[in-house]
Amino acid sequence: MSEIEEPGGTAPRRVIGTPSPAPAAVDTAEKPAGPALVTDPPDKARASRAERLVAALFVLAFVAGCGFIAAYIGLEVGSSNLPAGANAVDAAFRSNLALGLALSVVLLALGTGSMIWVRHLTPNIEIAEERHELASAPGDRAAFKAEFADGAAISQFTKRPLLRRTLLLATVPLALAPLVLLRDLGPLPGTSLRYTVWRKGLRAVTLGALNPLRPGDFQPGSMITMIPEGFQDDADALAKAGVILIKFEPGQLNFPDRYNGSTLIASMNWSIDNSLIAYSKICTHVGCPVALYEQTTHHILCPCHQSTFDATNGAWVIFGPAARPLPQLPLMVDSDGYLAAASDFPQPVGPSFWERG
Ligand code: FES
Repeated sequence: MSEIEEPGGTAPRRVIGTPSPAPAAVDTAEKPAGPALVTDPPDKARASRAERLVAALFVLAFVAGCGFIAAYIGLEVGSSNLPAGANAVDAAFRSNLALGLALSVVLLALGTGSMIWVRHLTPNIEIAEERHELASAPGDRAAFKAEFADGAAISQFTKRPLLRRTLLLATVPLALAPLVLLRDLGPLPGTSLRYTVWRKGLRAVTLGALNPLRPGDFQPGSMITMIPEGFQDDADALAKAGVILIKFEPGQLNFPDRYNGSTLIASMNWSIDNSLIAYSKICTHVGCPVALYEQTTHHILCPCHQSTFDATNGAWVIFGPAARPLPQLPLMVDSDGYLAAASDFPQPVGPSFWERG
């Protein structure tokens, strides 16, 4: 009960925790008679048990909430407030533990109680919200049409074809302007993305020192970045032509077939002495330089999105988002005994979309 009759017939006294009485109803309009509102769950005994359980959970939440406040006040964490010899880290740990536990119990008890309340004490009522017609009423549509026609007539747009046509003519260049702006994207790349400056006999030199290398200058297990000789100042050429040179022990390398799309382009050995091999340094995902080499696993790693290529197996992708192996640069030894390219890359270097179109 939320109200208690005062002896002597005075106004009823409110009990704490109950809503205030609703104002006297003054609505005299007739309301359509609908089905009676169901406000109580059908199983009264079950509802009472649920009520007691929910009340117990709310009391538990209250007690835990008090514990939270007590822990906050009682457990000191500032080093200046600690007794001599007490450890500030331990004090902070104890305080955090107590606060966390108390708050967890509060939230858990409140949440569980509310859930039980809703599931077991409120009746299961299906409610459907009526929606009005989405289309406007025919009268509204006719009114809009008439207003639009009136507006067009008042503006003289329909009566003066000269003005109407010259206005439309004036807007044509504006409509075409975006097409003209496409020119700012620069010339079409043509086939330039398919080729690099490497060609048969072009010597490879080390990046930075620009030293040519003989096969014997290089120890198994090491990796070095090489560029085409004479192109060290050509940023456009270097953007595509950088290669990583890796030396293996004899017998460690496999030579898988190479494909360009679905076309088999080679199943040949492009290494020197079955041990020295060169791959494009441009990741086939989105073009970062693949700069990391794990000597023990023979994996080449791209630092951008962790694509991993198997250096012993044609730089095949074994992990990550790259869609195809690193293109391999065929190698040869020139007449002076230095490493050189035997041709350009047989596949386009860089991100895979370059192969398309
Ligand atoms: S650019 Fe190499 S993994 Fe994304």
